Amino acid sequence: MEKKWHDRIRADILGLDRKVPLADGTKRPYINLDNAATTPPLAPVVKVVQSFLPWYSSVHRGFGYKSQLSTEVYHEARRQIMAFFGVPASEYIALFVKNTSEGLNKLAQRLPFEEGAVLSTWMEHHSNDLPWRLWKQARFIELTPDGCLDLADLERKLKKGQPRIKLVTVCGASNVTGIINPLQTIAELAHHYGAQIAVDAAQLAPHYPLRLRTDGAEPLDYLSFSGHKIYAPFGTGVLCGPAESFRTGTPDQVGGGTVIAVSREGVVFAPLPDREEVGTPNLIGAVALAAALRWLARNDFKRITAYEAALTEYAYERLKTVPGLILYGPPPKRYPRIGVISFNLEGIPHGLVAAFLAFEAGIGVRHGCFCARPYVHHLLGLSKSAILSYENLAKAGRKCLLPGMVRVSFGFYNTKNEIDLLVDALKDLRQEEEKIKNRYRIDPATGEYLPKIGNFKGALLRHTKTFFHL
Ligand code: ALA
Repeated sequence: MEKKWHDRIRADILGLDRKVPLADGTKRPYINLDNAATTPPLAPVVKVVQSFLPWYSSVHRGFGYKSQLSTEVYHEARRQIMAFFGVPASEYIALFVKNTSEGLNKLAQRLPFEEGAVLSTWMEHHSNDLPWRLWKQARFIELTPDGCLDLADLERKLKKGQPRIKLVTVCGASNVTGIINPLQTIAELAHHYGAQIAVDAAQLAPHYPLRLRTDGAEPLDYLSFSGHKIYAPFGTGVLCGPAESFRTGTPDQVGGGTVIAVSREGVVFAPLPDREEVGTPNLIGAVALAAALRWLARNDFKRITAYEAALTEYAYERLKTVPGLILYGPPPKRYPRIGVISFNLEGIPHGLVAAFLAFEAGIGVRHGCFCARPYVHHLLGLSKSAILSYENLAKAGRKCLLPGMVRVSFGFYNTKNEIDLLVDALKDLRQEEEKIKNRYRIDPATGEYLPKIGNFKGALLRHTKTFFHL
């Protein structure tokens, strides 16, 4: 029953049949364990896009039939996305942006307060850290030794912070450990002390039915997420929040579409959402994102969440059987986590592990610091002086010795069999460690490991050219 259901939903992912070249010249079906960076498209989403494309025209910029239809379709996509995330249209707005990073940058620039501080955390992706450091006064919630948020520190800073904390901004789930943060508790604490809460939902939204407002739960104030991590890679993300926060003031980007009147003397900005969406909007991205959400709702999102949780526990336990494998963050049995697991293999550089998996097992993972350096430094237990010396190496362009981890991250379509293949590959690497190390060379400038034999980059370039025939 479970297998049948899973085979059916897995079949909706586009491209699972594609084989990728290995270092020995053979080909193998690609196993994508890098869903935290980008998920593959859902075929039904692509179908919706294809069926709409013959009608595609300008949004808000024409009176022809196709233009009016495109405008309506754009509005409907926004309505559906708001309904999916429990965003009440009476008081809130959903703004289309490129991705979560752009959403959080917009929020940091548009939040209507000058006084007061923003409380982020040391577990954030740089996109929920740097905008606050640069546009607001930022403070950071400390971490426990195993990489969870220190909620006592959160409360201390809310209670005593000077200047007062106006916003707490936190990831729904970490892109390094997959830890799901206790959003309800954080929201209750923030509101109790008079602050709002923003959630970087880039990682959580694709794996867990998240709602801004829902009966019996503490409301969330702002939410940002990306289409490319939720099976709709057409360049759209969303920022949701109270309309009040964006109704006045100067939008962060200005130009076409954001105004209703411009004279030599002055500017009258358009009502929401137009004033916050500069230029011709990404209508196809909006259509695709709404379609992906409909697909999740129709395919029992709660069951998908449960399937992914079981898969994550399975992967964590299986990875523990690889000799010398160090796992980061608390076990998923003890602390809720989405399917993101980072690790190191003692004595083998993270870049080499990722290269071996790519070139000899056809498995795609990410390695490095995952745009979350302060968090990775914490989990690796690096001292201040070690961090400084690594920064100096990076500045000098020497990337081969930089610290990091290997990360596997799952989508609903991944299987236990794929995890078994990963674990087998890691055990092979451990067993043949010295021989395998000898098969790779490192480019000191990029820090990339490449097989000594064959011409991988040449083949990649030839493949690239096949997409530029027209
Ligand atoms: N934030 C994405 C990741 O963690 C890009 O890979």
